Amino acid sequence: MTTQAKGGRAHNDSVPTVLVINGPNLNLLGTREPEIYGHTTLEDINRQLIALGTELGIRVESFQSNSEGALVDRIQQARGIIDLIIINPAAYTHTSIAIRDALIAVEAPVIEVHLSNVYKRESFRHHSMIADVVEARLIGFGAEGYLLALRAAARMIKVHQEKREER
Ligand code: DQA
Repeated sequence: MTTQAKGGRAHNDSVPTVLVINGPNLNLLGTREPEIYGHTTLEDINRQLIALGTELGIRVESFQSNSEGALVDRIQQARGIIDLIIINPAAYTHTSIAIRDALIAVEAPVIEVHLSNVYKRESFRHHSMIADVVEARLIGFGAEGYLLALRAAARMIKVHQEKREER
């Protein structure tokens, strides 16, 4: 059953959907600077997320792009359809007002993920354009961070659902 919630979002009551978005160069995970980003590929991560989603009763959709505009388009499409977004905007984290604005416009809770501990790296990686508009951030857990984020997402969605039911 689908209901329309406050803020114009549609909710599939039986199976919540989480959209996992990855930004530029994350398609190269596994081979790109493995000493920083590890040996797990993006395909492996997406497979693990789908398996965990099945366990948690969550549908997982994944999207990766190297292009800022395509990322903005995908975030916009999530409006009213997706219950929560997990996003690693990669290098766009540090530069993209467009991704920030799209995440605000979509009106869904967002969890920001980074594989590496950006605070142990170059200072230009210390600033995130989205840090103050997301619900939570998971930084430095490697590929495991996405799975931790999905577990947190399941709890957040439940809390949001309970709050909606109270209204
Ligand atoms: C990253 C950190 C960013 O600074 C970098 O540009 C990335 C990946 C991470 O997951 O650690 O591409 O977001």
